[in-house]
Amino acid sequence: MAKSHGGRAMFGSKFGVIAAAVGSAVGLGNIWRFPYEAGTHGGGAFLLCYIIAILVLGIPTICAEYALGRAGRANIFGTYRKFSNSNRWNWAGCLGILASIMILSFYSVVAGWTLEYFFRSISNSFAGMTAEDYHSEFVSFSTSNWRPLLCTLLFLGINYAVMRRGVTAGIERISKLLMPILFVILIVFCINSLMMDKAQEGLAFLFRPDFTQITPSVMLSALGQAFFSLSIGLGCMMIYGSYIKADANLTKMATVTVALDTLVAILAGVVIFPAVFTFGFSPAAGPALVFEVLPAIFNQLPGGVIWSALFFLLLFVASLTSTISMSEDFIAYCTEERGMSRRSATNLNLGIAVVLGSLCTISFGCLNDFKIFGLTIFELFDYVASNILLPIGGIAVTIFAGWIVKKSVMKQQLGVSGIVFKPLMICLRYIAPISILLVFLRSIGII
Ligand code: TRP
Repeated sequence: MAKSHGGRAMFGSKFGVIAAAVGSAVGLGNIWRFPYEAGTHGGGAFLLCYIIAILVLGIPTICAEYALGRAGRANIFGTYRKFSNSNRWNWAGCLGILASIMILSFYSVVAGWTLEYFFRSISNSFAGMTAEDYHSEFVSFSTSNWRPLLCTLLFLGINYAVMRRGVTAGIERISKLLMPILFVILIVFCINSLMMDKAQEGLAFLFRPDFTQITPSVMLSALGQAFFSLSIGLGCMMIYGSYIKADANLTKMATVTVALDTLVAILAGVVIFPAVFTFGFSPAAGPALVFEVLPAIFNQLPGGVIWSALFFLLLFVASLTSTISMSEDFIAYCTEERGMSRRSATNLNLGIAVVLGSLCTISFGCLNDFKIFGLTIFELFDYVASNILLPIGGIAVTIFAGWIVKKSVMKQQLGVSGIVFKPLMICLRYIAPISILLVFLRSIGII
């Protein structure tokens, strides 16, 4: 993203747009969050709900965000204001900005862990460990006082350095180069996992749904995960849409983004679950899951040190391409709505993320007993952002695109014929907002 067009930044090429959008979508959400959410919510049952959520709600919502962003050529607030001709939709903008800050805060903690695991890999400190060792190593690291905090701050510093320059051609180029490598490595790991003793059991856990496990709370988690993984519901894709040139086909872009994102999540599941059963881990280990299972897999591979270092490095890059999209959401709001310079907006973004990110980090350690509604600060941020703010943001975007914005604007933006446009609009007008609302209300016990 570099060229200026009518005063606003623009993505340079179509490939650049796809790289940035896929870069935002593919991240810890796919490789860290998806396996542990699936693991704690019944495996196959979760995957089934997830796929339905992606198809019925994810694709229409991402189309809506791209279309609104490109038609509005503004940040989330500006876009809502432009098409409603009022300030009545400001709440949806606030909610998006709040969610992006909360996600940036807890996300940076995990991104910091990837840095730590990268450094440990290159110093070969995982050699010769047993499954229990990986668990105790992770616990002792994540609950210690200083190292995780330093890692979070280091990550935020790198994110800051990128944001200060604007979203440079550098990061676009890095993601274009490194994302394909991440794919290749995941496939190599998949093949390796498929040859493990208990591969069958792992695959059955992931792909064979136990229908009795499909509950409203599993559905809500799948919905939250779908929105989280596609970076939708809080204006991130809207702001990226606003940087896309007029001649790009948004529906095609949305489909490619969704397809690649889902593929990476499923590949991550195929890597993790056979190993979980083979090495005797619990699939329900929560946020620690990937950090305990992956090193065990690397140790088995010839040249494990190199694989491991490379993998955590790529995971770090994937995290960075995601956090820059969260930061961009906030920064575009500050510069366009509040008249701040890019520099002060970036400083403010860093300041807030440092405070909240540090709180999230120490909620694994010295603040572990400090609970709100039975959740630590890290868990609370994740739960509130993913399972409350993203669904509400999704309802707002779909209602707005379906009912408030003129149909002709949507049609022109999406550039599709009636056969595709009609069902898409039905989804946006009725199916998406109603089903998100029902799942949401049911899971929080209101209906
Ligand atoms: N989608 C990213 C991931 O899977 C995370 C992310 C980036 C995000 N931007 C977002 C999540 C906006 C929600 C909203 O890792």
